[in-house]
Amino acid sequence: MESPRQVRIVEVGPRDGLQNEAQIVPTETKIKFIGLLADAGLKAIEATAFVSPKWVPQMADHAELMRALPRREGVVYPVLVPNLRGFGAALEAGATEVAVFASASETFSQRNINGSIAESLERFKPVFDAARAANVRVRGYVSCVLGCPYEGAVDPVRVADVSWKLFESGCYEISLGDTIGVGTPKATQQMIAVVADRVPVANLAGHFHDTYGQALANIYAALEMGVSVFDSSVGGLGGCPYAPGAAGNVATEDLVYMLDGMGIESEVDLDRLIAAGTFICAALGRETQSRVAKAKRQAS
Ligand code: HMG
Ligand code: MG
Repeated sequence: MESPRQVRIVEVGPRDGLQNEAQIVPTETKIKFIGLLADAGLKAIEATAFVSPKWVPQMADHAELMRALPRREGVVYPVLVPNLRGFGAALEAGATEVAVFASASETFSQRNINGSIAESLERFKPVFDAARAANVRVRGYVSCVLGCPYEGAVDPVRVADVSWKLFESGCYEISLGDTIGVGTPKATQQMIAVVADRVPVANLAGHFHDTYGQALANIYAALEMGVSVFDSSVGGLGGCPYAPGAAGNVATEDLVYMLDGMGIESEVDLDRLIAAGTFICAALGRETQSRVAKAKRQAS
């Protein structure tokens, strides 16, 4: 299949990027960060998660953050919701798009959301109903699509099964998460081929963590399969507190650089994006994981 000419990037830095940080980032800093990401041209910025603050303390300011975020024409701020309670709080705070998250691995599901895969799908049912009534779009994540930190290999048929159930229930898009970044390009293509038998490839997204340095290669492999939506995190921040050993997401700067080089439109300005990455890395007191940001800094 021919690679798409245009790619939609879902920036997950403010959520996936920050959720693993032990040091609590002030709400003001998060708001400035999100503003810089929007300045760079990103149109979908996952802003926070309406999860239990006991489980993920960094996201405890979800309602305050959502209320304070300046709305911008053409920019959407999806938020994670694990259950109806999270959905209600997100809606009240002004969310117009949410994401539910399930797993292709039973053990990861238990560790991450304290329930089985089937229980999680049950919990989402009232979320889908409420979202439909409120005219809110729902995105779906499937974690551990190329491996699980607890169970090891994951059968693509299980990934396809969970993906289909989320899609059938009303998710407009399924983001396939290589949560611990163990995938390689051929495995990525084999997994996508199995999933695409159940969910149209136009409704699939790739969410690659870069633990083993394979994320860009996996994105290239997914592009070849016709996938045209990718999640990434500026500065390569990220990781899940319930996925031991998982490193950050693919850096948005590196993804944009690759897409620019391939002549694939993303509508993101690389220099402004680098500025957003520089801002948040300075706020966190950590070095960027973006190879492109580092190379450009050295060259200047
Ligand atoms: P639980 O302990 O089974 O639920 O957690 P519970 O109903 O017994 O509630 C426990 C406490 O949380 C209670 O408070 C509830 O009120 C409260 P207490 O009575 O003890 O004071 N609570 C909530 N508070 C705020 N908002 C809510 C909410 N619900 C309950 N919505 C639960 C179950 C799902 C809540 C919990 O396990 C949880 O919040 N998990 C979230 C874990 C998480 O956020 N993980 C990271 C995101 S997933 C990810 O990173 C992967 C992804 O990037 C893709 C990839 O890379 O693969 C998306
Ligand atoms: Mg993730």
